[in-house]
Amino acid sequence: MAKILILVGTESGNAQMVADALKPVLEDAGHAVDVNDKAASVGDLEAHDVLLVICATHGSGDIPTNILPLAETLERERPDLSGHRYGVIALGDMTYQDTFCGGGKKVDQVFELCGARKVGERLEVDASSQPLPDEEALAWIEGWKNLVD
Ligand SMILES: Cc1cc2nc3c(=O)[nH]c(=O)nc-3n(C[C@H](O)[C@H](O)[C@H](O)COP(=O)(O)O)c2cc1C
Repeated sequence: MAKILILVGTESGNAQMVADALKPVLEDAGHAVDVNDKAASVGDLEAHDVLLVICATHGSGDIPTNILPLAETLERERPDLSGHRYGVIALGDMTYQDTFCGGGKKVDQVFELCGARKVGERLEVDASSQPLPDEEALAWIEGWKNLVD
C-alpha cells in the first residue's frame, strides 16, 4: 500500500473539497494519506512515494498562489523525483476555453520534468458542466486507487 500525499492547489476551496472527499476513499483502500495545501519544497514530498495533485486554475490559466511556490521550486531546481509516482486532478472551467485547466496542466508538466512517473490519465473537471467537482473525482479515484499499490 502506498504513502500518498494529496497536494492541494486552491483559491476558493473546491480543490480542498475534492481532497477531503478522496482522502477517506484512499484510506479505505489501505493507503496512508496526508493532505498538504502549503507544500513549498522538495523536503515536503520526501515522506511519501505517491503524490496526488488536485489543482485549480485561476487568473488566465494560472497556478493557484498556495501551490505556486512548490511549482516554481521544482521548475527551478529540477530535483530527481523518479522515485515518486503521481496523479493529477485539474479543476477548471470550459468557459475559459484556451486556458482550460491550465493550472493543473502546468503542475503536471513540472512533475514530469522532474522525472516523476505519472499514474493514470489526468482528470480535468469542468465547473461549467459539473457544479460538484467531487462527484467526478470520486468516480475517477475508483480506478486510480488500484493503480498505486
Ligand atoms: C478569477 C477566476 C479565474 C479563473 N480562470 C480560469 C482559467 O483560466 N481556466 C480554467 O480552466 N478555469 C478558470 N477558473 C475556474 C476555476 O479553476 C474553477 O472554478 C475551480 O473549480 C476553482 O477551484 P478552487 O475553488 O479550488 O480555487 C477561474 C475562476 C476564477 C474565479
